Amino acid sequence: MSTDQLFNVPLKPLDASAIPVHPTGIALQRSVEGTGGVPLLFKQIKIRDVQLKNRVIVSPMCQYSAVDGFMNTWHMTHLGQFATRGAGLVIFEASAVKEHGRITPNDAGIYLDEHIAPMAQIVAFLHTQGTKAGLQLAHAGRKASCYSPFRTHGEHTVVCPKEEGGWPDDVIGPSPIQQWEGGPQVREATKEDIRNVIKAFGEAAKRADKAGFDVVEIHGAHGYLINSFLSPLSNQRTDEYGGSFENRIRLLLEITEHTRSVWPASKPLFVRLSCTDWADGGWTGQDTVRLVPYLRDRGVDLIDCSSGGNVPWQKVPSHEQGWNVPFSRDIKQNVKDIMTGPVGGIVDYRFAECVLQKGEGDVIFMAREFLRHPTWVLDAADDLEVEVAWPVQYERSKRFAHGHTKH
Ligand SMILES: Cc1cc2nc3c(=O)[nH]c(=O)nc-3n(C[C@H](O)[C@H](O)[C@H](O)COP(=O)(O)O)c2cc1C
Repeated sequence: MSTDQLFNVPLKPLDASAIPVHPTGIALQRSVEGTGGVPLLFKQIKIRDVQLKNRVIVSPMCQYSAVDGFMNTWHMTHLGQFATRGAGLVIFEASAVKEHGRITPNDAGIYLDEHIAPMAQIVAFLHTQGTKAGLQLAHAGRKASCYSPFRTHGEHTVVCPKEEGGWPDDVIGPSPIQQWEGGPQVREATKEDIRNVIKAFGEAAKRADKAGFDVVEIHGAHGYLINSFLSPLSNQRTDEYGGSFENRIRLLLEITEHTRSVWPASKPLFVRLSCTDWADGGWTGQDTVRLVPYLRDRGVDLIDCSSGGNVPWQKVPSHEQGWNVPFSRDIKQNVKDIMTGPVGGIVDYRFAECVLQKGEGDVIFMAREFLRHPTWVLDAADDLEVEVAWPVQYERSKRFAHGHTKH
């Protein structure tokens, strides 16, 4: 057999007759009973009909490793590792709802029915570990048609020309303002473009449901299309999608309404926001607190609190652990009946537990720490002295509180 032929033989799916379905990272009953309670990080949480076995969420992370939007064995290995190590929910990377809504030609996409099958296999694997799967639905807006950072030595901001698979003549934003000097030329989105984008979010959500995802998250952060409509620094439209606060939030609300109308009522809908632009004259934390009730009233269950990314001259005052916690806390304190979770710099188990104990969020999102330390959840359990399930295959190496191992 040639290598090509070998590569075309699909891997055998996991066989339940050999491997029991096992909720890795769940607090064991004997541990709960022994201590009179578990740390909040390991207290299960139900959002609509979806029960998370713990409150640790892997934040979406672009891998720039897809071709034509299709996920592959890289994504299975990458996302699967977080499930075998016990994360409660893994949110798959920003997946474009339209082909030209990708950041790079190597982004994942959910703009074709054919994208469903590879994602469904990864979702099914996560489910064998009792880990829930979320998909982040995205449109890159002014940041579309760039090279993958692998091709530009880590630079995210190099325009990818047509000859290399880019689409620099079809990059849309609220107004014809480049995101950065030398970035793609931005075309002002027409009403038809806007209608198409809203429709595409709905189509993508329907595909996500078919793939078995438990959660979808609308990407409203980091300067991508939705965020650029929210901010007066990037949105200078004079129609009903620009100008006043109510007009700038209109695109997000219409996307939310449409997505919620096609996404099952039993499944949670999250929105990720850049809670501030970190720039004078831009979107602020107060704007976020004002926006959240509109989202809640349209069926959003949880706000994933991030910040920045819309203008290159932003000034982030600190990248200390938990720099977005104050935004999550402000929403919790000012808006009823909506959950939140902060992301940003969180690495420490007790810091994360403390955020939950103080009521500053309902869940914790973490990205880079999971790349450095994929066993974070199991190690957090150890540190916080709660016994959790390990994958049956790894039982022989299991640590108990204070680092003791079974022999
Ligand atoms: C490799 C990488 C890829 C990322 N891709 C996405 C993405 O697809 N969607 C998104 O909203 N944020 C993305 N982010 C941002 C993270 O989700 C997270 O918000 C940020 O890294 C701060 O959290 P951390 O300090 O825990 O890493 C990415 C971050 C990294 C490091």
